Amino acid sequence: MAKPAADKAYSTPDAEPARPSPGPSTPGTRRGVFKIWRSDGTGGEFKEYTTTVSEGMVVLDAVHQIQAESAPDLACRWNCKAGKCGSCSAEINGQPKLMCMTRMDQLPADTPTTIEPMRAFPPIKDLVTDVSWNFRVKKRIAPFKPRKPDAPDGTWRMQQADVDRVQEFRKCIECFLCQDVCHVLRDHHKHEEFIGPRFYVHAAALEMHPLDTADRVSDLKNEFGIGYCNITKCCTKVCPEHITITDNAIIPLKERVVDEFFDPLTRLLRVFRPKPAGRP
Ligand code: SF4
Ligand code: SF4
Ligand code: FES
Repeated sequence: MAKPAADKAYSTPDAEPARPSPGPSTPGTRRGVFKIWRSDGTGGEFKEYTTTVSEGMVVLDAVHQIQAESAPDLACRWNCKAGKCGSCSAEINGQPKLMCMTRMDQLPADTPTTIEPMRAFPPIKDLVTDVSWNFRVKKRIAPFKPRKPDAPDGTWRMQQADVDRVQEFRKCIECFLCQDVCHVLRDHHKHEEFIGPRFYVHAAALEMHPLDTADRVSDLKNEFGIGYCNITKCCTKVCPEHITITDNAIIPLKERVVDEFFDPLTRLLRVFRPKPAGRP
């Protein structure tokens, strides 16, 4: 995958001395200073804007106000403003976050708030990046393949504990903040060899599904680069849905790879006992 243009251009602006925030124009409000990355996709720079910050505002509100007041051509992607569509991902003060779920009162008021696009994906314009690589990755993962129904009426029987185990993974909103923060993609640009934490979550949801019979373990090792993950847990820390990506998805998948390819006893047993249908 093409490296995002001009890494250097993404560097956080030089630290500036703290400045007193301009006084509030009405009680409960203040003038907020923002440094927003402006780019046509081939380079760019931070530009400074000010707008009124009032009680209860989130960063996306401030961006919308700036669009309305002083930068009508400022591009940002959003849909729900409720933390559910996963489209307003950005880096706020250097941290991968959803703009619609980041409250202004959680950010320092005495320094400018920086807003820039995710770094792991190619820039398109301003805060918008091309995340289509993620959708191509998803197509490479073997889809759900249920075993035959357990009963003549076409229904299955499952243990509640097995159902509960994968439920966490289904909360993913595909914001790709975990992909953005992962150093394997962000710094080492291994997009061709590594599918990233979001898709280990997806693979885990399928692999651990109590009805699934497809085997993705070989692909995880050979095609999807799970060995590159060194379990730093950065992905887990930024997930707005609080999915325990590393402990509950990646580590169990790594264990399956070890069992399958590196444990001689398990390999021998598998010769006589292949993966049972619906193995959780
Ligand atoms: S735990 Fe693994 S997948 Fe998650 S950010 Fe770290 S290296 Fe990337
Ligand atoms: S796992 Fe979490 S951080 Fe990653 S895409 Fe899904 S919701 Fe976003
Ligand atoms: S606008 Fe939908 S998650 Fe932020």
